[in-house]
Amino acid sequence: MTPPAPDGDPYGLRSLSLDWLRAKPGQKWARHPGELAAWVADMDFLPPPAVRDALTALADGGDFGYPDWRRVSGGSPAEQAFVERCRRLYGWQVASDALVEFAEVVQGLQVVLHTSTKPGDRVVVPTPVYPPFLRSLAQAGCEVVPMPAERDAESPTGWGFDVDALDRQLAAAPARMMMLSHPHNPTGHVHDETELRALAAVAERHDLLILSDEIHAELTFAPHRHVPMALIAPERTVTITAASKAFNIAGLRYAIAHFGDRAALARVRALPDHLLGSTNLAGVAAATAAWRDSDEWLAAVMAVLADNRLLLADLLAEMMPEVDYTPPAASYLAWLDCRRLGFGDDPSVEFARRGVRLNPGPSFGVEGHGFARLNMATSPELLRRIVTRMATG
Ligand SMILES: Cc1ncc(COP(=O)(O)O)c(C=O)c1O
Repeated sequence: MTPPAPDGDPYGLRSLSLDWLRAKPGQKWARHPGELAAWVADMDFLPPPAVRDALTALADGGDFGYPDWRRVSGGSPAEQAFVERCRRLYGWQVASDALVEFAEVVQGLQVVLHTSTKPGDRVVVPTPVYPPFLRSLAQAGCEVVPMPAERDAESPTGWGFDVDALDRQLAAAPARMMMLSHPHNPTGHVHDETELRALAAVAERHDLLILSDEIHAELTFAPHRHVPMALIAPERTVTITAASKAFNIAGLRYAIAHFGDRAALARVRALPDHLLGSTNLAGVAAATAAWRDSDEWLAAVMAVLADNRLLLADLLAEMMPEVDYTPPAASYLAWLDCRRLGFGDDPSVEFARRGVRLNPGPSFGVEGHGFARLNMATSPELLRRIVTRMATG
């Protein structure tokens, strides 16, 4: 059952019912009953109407047999929708013969790591970082070359990276690859064109393959602007993305990668037939409807998130002034520096005790000690309840 949408809030984004959220079967709300869920990166909002209509039409049509996408176009409808969207949003002319579909972004990252590195290779990674980056690198036997996110009052996002220091580090010991989380999870930093050019120049000088995870790109807040790394370093970038974060459909499992580096593409194509499986009808239908027919919904979501990122600053100032927080330039994840609270290396333990589930900072690497990540993709009222409970238990 879906909650009714009130007037002036056509998608019901600002008035979520806690009972409705608690009855949802997904891991965000189901895993820790009784707590307020502000952890895993799913939004509390219903996905776009066009996505839900596409899935209903698929179910009503009743054909769940093998799809015939190749005969029609040389790619699935989602692949075509992705090509059209990149042209429209970024002026990026994506070559459709350079695309590979995956079930999920992290699968794509793993596949590129396993086909383009060998154990012992060094890989540049922005730190702290989305935990599966670190786990995937450990599983591939790669050594992390950290590129630390640093607070930078001069930067429009409040964060920056010391690209010159990275350059010097690579001159001393070479690496094979540079991974980017662009926009950056967990700080919400958006690399602007100048920074992307500096990173691309380092990659060029040290002959690095760039693996750019751009899953949060469409959640970039104005005046910041997402520029795909593929536009800056077209021949050495592999881009992996999905509609799943911006359109709240992560459980439907669909992701897509663009290989500007043709040799990296050839290595993936050389994997045994069927090793990677193929994409599923529902994931393709949902991604297609998201990319083609859901812009109005996304604009409404961005308006709520833009308000929430500032509301969170006010709530923290009022109730937990010791927490240091810079509103993210992209996405709905708040990287909270809790070191002045004295809650130890993993403040999420104390917040869970108080009834709010956040992501533990240390899972993002050593730079995350004393931090916690809060998901603010919820209604303003619930965000207030979350911070109140974090502050008072
Ligand atoms: C940077 C980043 N990459 C990848 C993912 C996960 O994508 P998928 O579920 O498609 O593997 C997330 C999820 O939050 C993420 O933040």
